[in-house]
Amino acid sequence: MPVDSPSPASQTICVTGAGGFIASWIVKLLLEKGYTVRGTVRNPDDPKNAHLRELEGAKERLILCRADLLDYEGLKDAINGCDGVFHTASPVTDDPEQMVEPAVDGTKNVIIAAAEAKCRRVVFTSSIGAVYMDPNRSPDVVVDESCWSDLEYCKNTKNWYCFGKAVAEQAAWDIAKEKEVDLVVVNPVLVLGPLLQPTVNASIVHILKYLTGSAKTYANSVQAYVDVRDVALAHILVYENPSASGRYLCAESALHRGELVEILAKFFPEFPIPTK
Ligand SMILES: NC(=O)c1ccc[n+]([C@@H]2O[C@H](COP(=O)([O-])OP(=O)(O)OC[C@H]3O[C@@H](n4cnc5c(N)ncnc54)[C@H](OP(=O)(O)O)[C@@H]3O)[C@@H](O)[C@H]2O)c1
Repeated sequence: MPVDSPSPASQTICVTGAGGFIASWIVKLLLEKGYTVRGTVRNPDDPKNAHLRELEGAKERLILCRADLLDYEGLKDAINGCDGVFHTASPVTDDPEQMVEPAVDGTKNVIIAAAEAKCRRVVFTSSIGAVYMDPNRSPDVVVDESCWSDLEYCKNTKNWYCFGKAVAEQAAWDIAKEKEVDLVVVNPVLVLGPLLQPTVNASIVHILKYLTGSAKTYANSVQAYVDVRDVALAHILVYENPSASGRYLCAESALHRGELVEILAKFFPEFPIPTK
């Protein structure tokens, strides 16, 4: 950690949507590093968030706060007094009603609350979905942090998740500029890896459908993947490193679906993994 950064032991970080797949790993790593964590969840008493209380250091340094993304006062109470915010909560769905408003207004709420609390930095979990959906980009162009998804195209193809994430990230940049909040964005590709939470999240279904037999064939397409532990660590690194700025694509390897099912078949030969 750079010498001019305060030590983790003296800092409190708010993680929104703390019980989710990626956020649970962020909370775990933050606690292991010695940070005090305020995790927002919609219902602290829901058994699906109980795993957080079992994390090492949780008894001493984790506080769960009740907040919905559309509940500004709840978010404000959770963020007030925090040094940094990791805004990871978001709906993950292609239902436009459930996706767009909470993703966009929730992000605005979090950044405004962080501005009021004078947080050092906000790290926002955006997505590759805010980056790559652009039919006008030539196939020869390498996708990098300068790319943005085309909103009209997302709308016309009903990719409401990508639309919501792109609009939310754009809103994050706009509000952060207006409120002079130091914002850094992580844009992960499809995230896989061990689950800390007891429920199955959307990106895990990408693998699960090949193991349960619900997918009989695989698509002729390519997908980039990254491990959830690397994504969580990336969030912490961009928070801690003063020179971090802008967007960071977070990706490990790109595989054709045929390569993916081959790997799955090798590790799980007893499962009905498609061969075509
Ligand atoms: N997994 C991936 O492949 C991937 C890739 C790129 C980016 N991301 C981004 O990473 C973030 C976390 O995703 P994840 O994969 O960890 O999914 P997840 O496990 O479904 O986590 C999403 C979290 O957001 C919370 N949330 C949803 N709507 C909310 C609302 N209205 N108010 C408060 N909290 C709300 C959920 O709370 P409840 O448990 O109460 O529903 C849950 O804790 C999201 O921003 C997602 O867009 C994920």
